[in-house]
Amino acid sequence: MTDMKRRDFLKAGAAAVVVTSTCLCGLNGCSTFTKIGHTQEIKPEAITRKGNMLLVDLSREPLLGQVGGAGKIKNDLVPQGIIIAHTEQNIYQIASLLCTHRGVEVDYDHKKKRFECASLGSSAFTLNGGNIKGPAKKPLQKYEASVSGNILAIRI
Ligand code: FES
Repeated sequence: MTDMKRRDFLKAGAAAVVVTSTCLCGLNGCSTFTKIGHTQEIKPEAITRKGNMLLVDLSREPLLGQVGGAGKIKNDLVPQGIIIAHTEQNIYQIASLLCTHRGVEVDYDHKKKRFECASLGSSAFTLNGGNIKGPAKKPLQKYEASVSGNILAIRI
């Protein structure tokens, strides 16, 4: 292999490594690339499905029990994924997990009281799922919920 060919080979290899391990922003694990947000998953043992109701045992998820806490569910029980935000004392807002732009997960921003896409596109949604800003044109789906004791019941 000549020097020129070896240099070209190394450049191509380096470019391939960059493309496969980082986003355009240059950060490994960037949500735009992985499509995964920062919200913690709710433990499977805290979730029960009964028909079209999803029951979340809040006593098993202390973070969700605190105002400002949030959690996500994306598993066989809820393949489309939902995000749960504890916005005010005993008031929970639930929406679909995936941004309607390109399917990156949304997170809950308690200071701004809204859902925000974890990607660089940064679409933002009201607690009712409506679009506020960003490239997403469709709203998130909103889910009805109620709390009884330690059980959060979500109609899905
Ligand atoms: S995927 Fe959410 S703004 Fe692009």
